[in-house]
Amino acid sequence: MPAHIHPSILSADFANFESEFASISGADSIHIDVMDGHFVPNLTFGLPMVKRMREVATKPLDIHLMIDRADSEALPYADLGVESVTFHAEASNDMFTLASKIRSAGAKAGVAVKPGTSLNIVLSNLEAFDMVLVMTVEPGFGGQSLIESTLEKVSQAAEEIAKRSLEIRLQVDGGIDLSNILRVASHGADTFVAGSSVFSANDRNERIDDLRRLANQGLHRTL
Ligand code: DX5
Ligand code: ZN
Repeated sequence: MPAHIHPSILSADFANFESEFASISGADSIHIDVMDGHFVPNLTFGLPMVKRMREVATKPLDIHLMIDRADSEALPYADLGVESVTFHAEASNDMFTLASKIRSAGAKAGVAVKPGTSLNIVLSNLEAFDMVLVMTVEPGFGGQSLIESTLEKVSQAAEEIAKRSLEIRLQVDGGIDLSNILRVASHGADTFVAGSSVFSANDRNERIDDLRRLANQGLHRTL
């Protein structure tokens, strides 16, 4: 699968989303971090704002829910007509049922794991998901450094996906930049969230292209 770059608007200007979206027109999808102030110690925005983003965005939206009670709160996001809804395994009591409901609502279903969470429960029924998100930082804030030990989980997920010949995207989120994306891709990740790396660039679309080119090089060298 070719590498996809999903800029995270956590690093964008929250007062100007429409023009910020326009500045990343080369993105494959736009990564939207929904934080509730409970699951993570940060608060961003909720359903009404994501609904409006969906109306003004010209790219698909990749929703990353960092919220408690995913089983009851996630579905309305899928109903907005977004490309994918990813919830955290730690915030769901019945992740396979939730994934199936997200799919029925017409979105791709993603499941995320924090750096300290094992992938085993997710791997036991990988077919239930369209995307697995291995967090490469503790969720909550942009601009952190990638936690190296999380790359073992990236390799583990990549091996399982390949072994079972599944069409599942393997996403990484947190601390991804020009210095490490090739190496992270060589562990088998194919979908890259990048917040500060993209939004701090003078030419954001050029940064997206550079990240994608390096990621594709890394994917060809899968370890
Ligand atoms: C962190 C968020 C990320 C964040 C990544 O909890 O899930 O999407 O925006 O930002 P960078 O790329 O700056 O680490
Ligand atoms: Zn995110």
